[in-house]
Amino acid sequence: MTEILIQKAYNEVKKHRNMVINDPYRLRYHLMPPVGLLNDPNGLIQFKGIYHVFYQWNPFETTHGAKFWGHYTSEDMVHWREEPIALAPSEWYDKNGCYSGSAVESDGKLYLFYTGNVKKEDGTRETYQCLAVSENGIDFEKLGPVLNLPEHYTAHFRDPKVWRKDDHWYMVIGAQTLEEKGTVALFHSKDLYHWEEAGIIAGSEMDGLKDFGYMWECPDLVHLNGKDVLLVSPQGLKPVGDFYHNLFQSGYFIGELDYKRMKFPHGAFTELDRGFDFYAPQTFTDESGRIILYGWMGITDELESYQPTIVNRWVHALTIPRELELHHGKIFQRPVRELKKLRKNHVVVETNKFEGISAELIMDFVKAGPFKISFRNEAYLSFDSDRLTLERRNLMSGNLEARTCKIASVSKLQIFMDHSSLEIFINDGEEVFTTRYFPNPNDSIISVEGEADFKLIKWHLGDDGE
Ligand code: FRU
Repeated sequence: MTEILIQKAYNEVKKHRNMVINDPYRLRYHLMPPVGLLNDPNGLIQFKGIYHVFYQWNPFETTHGAKFWGHYTSEDMVHWREEPIALAPSEWYDKNGCYSGSAVESDGKLYLFYTGNVKKEDGTRETYQCLAVSENGIDFEKLGPVLNLPEHYTAHFRDPKVWRKDDHWYMVIGAQTLEEKGTVALFHSKDLYHWEEAGIIAGSEMDGLKDFGYMWECPDLVHLNGKDVLLVSPQGLKPVGDFYHNLFQSGYFIGELDYKRMKFPHGAFTELDRGFDFYAPQTFTDESGRIILYGWMGITDELESYQPTIVNRWVHALTIPRELELHHGKIFQRPVRELKKLRKNHVVVETNKFEGISAELIMDFVKAGPFKISFRNEAYLSFDSDRLTLERRNLMSGNLEARTCKIASVSKLQIFMDHSSLEIFINDGEEVFTTRYFPNPNDSIISVEGEADFKLIKWHLGDDGE
């Protein structure tokens, strides 16, 4: 069963490879599915020196379905190898999807935790938290479910993220209570195989939060600069001011996990990204101690089926890796330094109009003031007094749509452009805007207008000439 399913997926990759790689919107330095649909980053880890990125993958369609875990490895997070499929939805406990999860190392082996998604004939759902193990980090043996659904949650119970502290293992799971409130459940274990529930550590209508969504997906608890930070992707928030304008959000709560009482008193929720396409991020700590985040540069919303890459049989990508730091109660996100390896042809730009498709722009502002940048006549970043706005064309209506964020001043912009994406880091990662956009492939004009004065450096990114 497993072999047949995996072979079917490889056949699909082979059959469409040419069409996929020749898509004008194919990205140059982002992780993408070889065919089909990619969503969440999974199982992020540096294992025996090698970086591993797994991802939610439907090889057969550009819609969501029974997910596989695709797999890439790298020595430097810049050059990637496509590895054999890590997990396929072949068993009774994961037959409708090997859903999101995480990776840990123990005794020199790589363990994957993931959610086995099962849909029954009557339309109801079952969920199993499953384990798989590998000696070499490439070939995985499934060990089956290690945790069944506790009674007090609905079957929306998934995305185990596991970590070790002292001699214990801990796991957070995104869950929905029977009252349909989004929460995060905490479990602990001595051996990775037997898990005990510690309780709910955060959720809608808890700890000073009002109604905060009907489901929380992809929780992640990370120790950052002396604090514990709970990252989570809540579903069901309504827009408030400049916030929560995407269908689903991703953000974090800063607090302190009391490992004795298993409680997590925490502060307010902060969105991680202010753009259009960012969801289900996950972090890992690499061997040098950096906390690195990948997000899905996409989201499940009404625009998903309008993505123009679908005609060429692929959809979505991951973000570039970002290093996290906590300053004055706020996460700052910066592109990992390894991405400098992509830089080619350093240019000091001295005109208001120049060209770039796959490029990194660094703008250091020497005089503040309003400005507007046009990216290939399809997306616009503008700043006026204390508001930064990113506009792009809505894939369904064709009209411009905007995301806005309040910011006192803009002193620096670092912008990663790829053939159909923008990742804009403001003031060394104080805010980030991530978006896909689909300009005319022949339009490479970037223009800047306004009163602000800046020094602008441009690099071409990637191996192709431009
Ligand atoms: C988030 C998510 C997860 C789930 C996975 C399924 O995008 O819905 O909660 O595990 O995607 O692909």
